[in-house]
Amino acid sequence: MTSFPDCWHAVALAADIRTKPLRILFSGQPVVLFRSSGEIAALQDRCPHRLVELSTGKVVGGEIECPYHGWRFNAAGACTAIPGHAGDIPGYRVPRYRTVEKDGVVFLAKGDPNGAPYLHCAEGQNIILRLVRSSTRSTLIDTAENILDATHTHFTHKGLLRGLSTRRQRVRVDISGGPGWVEACYTGEEHQDGLISRLLEGARVKTIGRFRSPGIAELEYWGPKGLVLATTFHLRQAAEDQVDGIGCLIGPRNGILDHLKSYAFRPMFRIALEQDRRVLTSASRNATYWPGATPVVGPLDFLRRSIEAILAGTLPPVAEKPETTYIDL
Ligand code: FES
Ligand SMILES: [Fe+2]
Repeated sequence: MTSFPDCWHAVALAADIRTKPLRILFSGQPVVLFRSSGEIAALQDRCPHRLVELSTGKVVGGEIECPYHGWRFNAAGACTAIPGHAGDIPGYRVPRYRTVEKDGVVFLAKGDPNGAPYLHCAEGQNIILRLVRSSTRSTLIDTAENILDATHTHFTHKGLLRGLSTRRQRVRVDISGGPGWVEACYTGEEHQDGLISRLLEGARVKTIGRFRSPGIAELEYWGPKGLVLATTFHLRQAAEDQVDGIGCLIGPRNGILDHLKSYAFRPMFRIALEQDRRVLTSASRNATYWPGATPVVGPLDFLRRSIEAILAGTLPPVAEKPETTYIDL
């Protein structure tokens, strides 16, 4: 499993961590998240005593209490209480993770990353932000590619993201990249017939699909007056065959209408997510019958090799040589 130890990873929505602890999978290992004096603490979800899941216990005074013998651990992972023991507490510890909360999203790191985490592509701008969570049986690369793949929308999301007709437009695709990122910029696609586009969007000037390490897939829809709609999805391989995601849905804040639109967008977005989940799960299940099989990288799969390179920690091929191509979209 690819892991980037010194990066921030978006792992949960802050709203999902209230009085009860929350168990998540992080790089294949369970982690318990809980609130401790206003902050969010993250510990390995395993009591060092008899290895019980701490997340099945409760939070008492900002510490997590194991449900078996009541040992307690603070936000730093230090054992603070062994009920019934009269002497000093031995220095038992549970491994901890660093956490930071940003605009309702909880980020976690194994190491000690520099700076604040990256949340979305319109940071610092006057926008409306809605958050969604997803979990899919898949691989990180397949999920990221799916989000950024413009060609599947004709089939997987017919009617929703695309119109019902089979009509296509010739569009120009410019693919560029650098250390840790790759993007495809689509121009020449004047309008979209899909339901989401018709409700929420006017003329379209360009669409950008971008991947950033460690697992961020983002889409930007630009109109003549600027950014119209964007999504930034933080993906991570939670377990061998499970990809968890935190998605930011972003629209400019221009008044009450945009608020209403953002409420309409989320349910429709959830439908699109479910449609994608179906195909990704189908591929993942099917892959178990042919464990050695490698997928074909077709002529329209512009980003696959670059995402693979980024996930392997190397420079994407297009960083040296940007490409331009034309497709019927
Ligand atoms: S197993 Fe956790 S306190 Fe004993
Ligand atoms: Fe999709």
